[in-house]
Amino acid sequence: MKKDLLSLLDLEKTDFEDLFDRALQLKKRYAQGIHDRVLTGKSLGLIFDKKSTRTRIAFETAMIQLGGHPIYMSTQDTQISRNEPAEDTARVLSRYIDCLAMRTFDHALVETFAAASSIPVINALTDWFHPCQILSDIMTIIEHKGGYRNVKIAWVGDGNNVANSWVNAASVLGLTLTVACPEDHMVTQQIIKASGADAMDHIRFTTDPKEAVKHADVVYTDVWASMGEEDELQNRLAAFDGFQVNRDLLTRAAPDVLVMHCLPAHRGEEISEQVLEAPGAAFWDQAENKRHMHKAILETLILRKKSDE
Ligand code: CP
Ligand code: NVA
Repeated sequence: MKKDLLSLLDLEKTDFEDLFDRALQLKKRYAQGIHDRVLTGKSLGLIFDKKSTRTRIAFETAMIQLGGHPIYMSTQDTQISRNEPAEDTARVLSRYIDCLAMRTFDHALVETFAAASSIPVINALTDWFHPCQILSDIMTIIEHKGGYRNVKIAWVGDGNNVANSWVNAASVLGLTLTVACPEDHMVTQQIIKASGADAMDHIRFTTDPKEAVKHADVVYTDVWASMGEEDELQNRLAAFDGFQVNRDLLTRAAPDVLVMHCLPAHRGEEISEQVLEAPGAAFWDQAENKRHMHKAILETLILRKKSDE
């Protein structure tokens, strides 16, 4: 794997496979009471500019359970908020910690940190991408569907950071993915072209959610206004009319369709209460699997750094 995980385009197909295998193995071993303390003495820094429940706590618990230490830094409490250059902060943190997970707005900022750091930098969500989310989500698909090959995946909603990461994953892994977004909220051409998805028959884009979910094995949605876009919600509610994942829409999907959502969810907007509260829903497995996948990512990036030295 490369030094950093900023986008799923940073990964080869074999990197994905290795992470799925290791995360599933770590999950099984943890359930058996086996604690793999492979990161004893290591530290993970977390710089979060946006709110988080799952990603932050999954990274912190993953690090603790692997024997290491997480150090959470809110931007407000560091010199970053007093305009210390990102390059300087990155070089200094590289002298203290073994890995840095960052959640911020501008994707270019995590790229700047990664370029200036000698330690691995992990994107814990930017305006453009949420790579760790999709890694744990495909792990959840593997558990529920026995694999990801021949699984028809439909994205219904905003062409946002999570959708972009699905497009990246589909292009590297050859996933069958249909992305349905309102015209003004479609995944951008820049993202589509960068992933090569424009030249791939197995990745399609539509403005019709009904068409996208037809015979789908997985239907995935996310909020209509992401963090930083809250002021746009009222206008977006009209634009996303017909895009709610509810029982009516799902009648077109495969009978055993797996509905997924990265959470937090807005009941009655992108997803109905009934679908969110359906017995056996996978949302909570998705949330749990973030911890196991984060372990696999941390172990891979931090220990590879050691073996390179
Ligand atoms: N899914 C996800 O990233 O959740 P948080 O915003 O709570 O981290
Ligand atoms: N698209 C959402 C994902 C939250 C996990 C956001 O960026 O707010």
